[in-house]
Amino acid sequence: MKENYISKTPTSKALYEQAKNLLPAGVSYGIRFFEPYPFYTAKAKGSKLYDVDGNEYIDFWLGHTALILGHSPPEIVNAVKKQLETGTHYGTSHELEIELAKQVTKMVPSSEMVRFTNSGTEANMYATRLARAYTGRSKIAKFEGGWHGGYDALHVSVKYPFNVPESAGLTAGAVQDTIALPFNNLEGVRKKLKNEEVASIVIEPVLGAGGGVPAEKEFLKGLRKFCDEKEILLVFDEVITGFRLAPGGGQQYFGVTPDITVLGKILGGGFPIGALCGGKKIMEKLNTRVHERPHYSFHGGTFAANPITMVAGLTTLRILEDGQLINSLNKLGDKIREQIREIFEKNGTDVKVPGVGSLFNIHFTKEEIKDANAAFRANRKKLLDYDLKLIENGVFFLPTHTGALSTAHSKAEIEKLLSETTKYAKQCKIA
Ligand SMILES: Cc1ncc(COP(=O)(O)O)c(C=O)c1O
Repeated sequence: MKENYISKTPTSKALYEQAKNLLPAGVSYGIRFFEPYPFYTAKAKGSKLYDVDGNEYIDFWLGHTALILGHSPPEIVNAVKKQLETGTHYGTSHELEIELAKQVTKMVPSSEMVRFTNSGTEANMYATRLARAYTGRSKIAKFEGGWHGGYDALHVSVKYPFNVPESAGLTAGAVQDTIALPFNNLEGVRKKLKNEEVASIVIEPVLGAGGGVPAEKEFLKGLRKFCDEKEILLVFDEVITGFRLAPGGGQQYFGVTPDITVLGKILGGGFPIGALCGGKKIMEKLNTRVHERPHYSFHGGTFAANPITMVAGLTTLRILEDGQLINSLNKLGDKIREQIREIFEKNGTDVKVPGVGSLFNIHFTKEEIKDANAAFRANRKKLLDYDLKLIENGVFFLPTHTGALSTAHSKAEIEKLLSETTKYAKQCKIA
């Protein structure tokens, strides 16, 4: 089967041969590698990636789900071009950081103040420190299958089996204060934290890397109540769900307000970003003018609030603000999940298509997908097979990862996803 891909991608193969001697695993991020080698993108526009061999792919990976308006939308390109003439990086205070902070606080229910970072990882790192500083507690909790970036204290219980360390080089000291909790299981959370004092519980409203699994609304409500009872800060990692599920993210969609929100991806309008935001009382703990060392919680960075990113993010959020585009993407997502399910069921293949709004994943299993355990227990080999078959035929999901929709996807492109899925499902039936 891979022969077809190999015959279509000779230039990518040659580039990969070079890359593997220069970049470990030949890539700049381990998850971007897939067998036999990744294709190399030459250009991206709208809903499509174009590789160095002239193949085109309808892109449902969308730059790690960041590109809700597709690749290089004209509004963003124009705004960025203008900004390029006025400065690419100031390293001083400027008006755009205020404008974007205003826009975020207008849209995200839990936010009164914001600080910008360059990635979601960084934002989660600073949010963790802020929670610890604010509460004076050392321990923190996260969920099994939750991915918050590579920061040591949160790089725990990400992949199944959850008891295996996620990386070499994580010291016992760095991870010993992190407690892993069962997702969508309030009783399990209560049990695990019965005798613990934690600063924060961080949760993705929809597990992204953990299989596209949404939190149940009642679970999130229960978690909010539990955090209030125990004076724990509830942190929503909305790096994926922010500005995607609703203009105000997962917290608006599910109607549950966290204490701290971590943002990224869409917020940058296609440029590197992260942010943490929350109520004034908590965020003021970052105020170095109010608190003296060691009483403030430090945050900063050379490229924090880079003007190119700020203008791209601001333009993006203004486009998304009224919720119309997001609503129609959500409806399309509902339809696609249903149709993919039907296609496989019609062909006698057990499948679950979890997700919510414009996010979805596909798991070949009979088991209900309520957490990452169930997602990882599904037939991953088959999912990989399906994803590679789609890539060969010009439809791109990063293999096994959660896919997303953008406003750039056309009706015909969605049809193509469904027709390629039908072809694959029929082939499964024969196999
Ligand atoms: C939910 C979530 N949090 C945090 C991160 C880390 O963000 P970044 O890759 O920008 O560091 C990611 C990245 O995929 C994510 O999906």
